[in-house]
Amino acid sequence: MKWLSGLPIRLVNRAYSPSNENMKKIAIIGSTGSIGRQALEVIGAHRDKLKVVALAAGKNSLDELAQQINVFAPDIVSVPNGQAAGDLRALLNNTKIKLDILVGEEGLEAVATHSESNLLLTAIVGFAGVKPTLAAIKKGKTIALANKETLVAAGSIIMSLVKEKGTKIIPVDSEHSAIHQCLSGYAISDIRHLWLTGSGGPFRTWNQKQIDNATVKDALQHPNWSMGKKITVDSATLMNKGLEIIEARWLFDFDPRKIKVVIQPQQILHSAVEFCDGSIIGQFGLPDMKLPIHYALFYPHRAEFADGPRLNLCELNSLTFETPDYDRFPCLKIAQEVAKEDSTAACVLNSANEIIVEAFLQERIRFKDIPVSLMRVLDKHNRVASPDLEDILEADLWARDEAAAILKAMV
Ligand SMILES: NC(=O)c1ccc[n+]([C@@H]2O[C@H](COP(=O)([O-])OP(=O)(O)OC[C@H]3O[C@@H](n4cnc5c(N)ncnc54)[C@H](OP(=O)(O)O)[C@@H]3O)[C@@H](O)[C@H]2O)c1
Repeated sequence: MKWLSGLPIRLVNRAYSPSNENMKKIAIIGSTGSIGRQALEVIGAHRDKLKVVALAAGKNSLDELAQQINVFAPDIVSVPNGQAAGDLRALLNNTKIKLDILVGEEGLEAVATHSESNLLLTAIVGFAGVKPTLAAIKKGKTIALANKETLVAAGSIIMSLVKEKGTKIIPVDSEHSAIHQCLSGYAISDIRHLWLTGSGGPFRTWNQKQIDNATVKDALQHPNWSMGKKITVDSATLMNKGLEIIEARWLFDFDPRKIKVVIQPQQILHSAVEFCDGSIIGQFGLPDMKLPIHYALFYPHRAEFADGPRLNLCELNSLTFETPDYDRFPCLKIAQEVAKEDSTAACVLNSANEIIVEAFLQERIRFKDIPVSLMRVLDKHNRVASPDLEDILEADLWARDEAAAILKAMV
């Protein structure tokens, strides 16, 4: 493990020092992102029950990471490289806090597997979540999983390890959190369909021509949620819903052909379970990620959330439902087809999508190029069935290279 420099490991001052032995001790990877920040808000409101022991973030928000360290006093912190570690240390120099800062993949895994933690929140974005999540499961940690890309890319590997180690994944994605709550007490064999709801994204009412000409600014205007840029673009293409089908397939060990998508523009019904007797149980709430985060952090208990978002049913004017339009949103269809496979195709879909979305965000391609380039990568991929980790890692690298080559030829 790489440790940067000789400062003492322990903090010299602690913003708070809870003494309760039963306290849940939490490590977070991706603490400076949309989910990470909201999780820290929830933890901050429950300092008598929840404690942060380790944090990891990227290099884009070191000021914010320094503030989080000041407030939550984790035991260890990880950033991607030595430069970021040096910058972070400089930011902490004016405070009394002294801690060693870990770097790189090894640092990320050290945070994910911190010996004091009993819960890892994976709030990192993309395939980068696979290795630390696997490392944490190997150590028997419970995972509060926001990082859906990990299950999309390596679902069968992750879930068989979860079974082997007797640990749990508690979903943070609002749709999967809803299904997790609706399923409580029922056998999977009692279920006819899982209904994933989606807002429809910013282009729900746009015609094909408007969608084809959508700009980055347009795609980042999500009607209901304020999220990181990658997932916001995925919500505009409806790829996010497709990735969620694959996530649900593995998480609930459920036949992907029986996972349905329905557009629910108000985002009040967060998903539902249809049982074999025809009953449908759904979970309702305001569109606020703090709710599923709160559920995951406290699971299997329910905790009072005094200042949390509250839905007043009397104030609901209407709830509407629509069938998704696969012609205007081909990414959903592409992912739905891939969801039926247990192969490297899902990893390739995910990794190629990461590269293609980044190219769109950098304005190197148009919105309408996203599904076209994705299909080109998938068409060239030689699938490996029931992949092991080595197959997944290889497919990830192949997909990134192939997507980059296809994009280069397009522009
Ligand atoms: N946001 C939502 O409402 C929402 C809802 C459901 C599911 N999710 C899922 O939750 C995950 C996070 O989404 P988000 O919207 O919170 O993303 P985000 O705002 O982009 O935040 C991503 C976080 O990961 C960090 N990060 C990125 N690469 C890293 C690396 N290599 N090592 C360590 N940290 C790294 C980022 O650091 P920097 O600050 O330095 O960039 C940031 O802290 C995604 O998988 C998303 O699909 C999000």
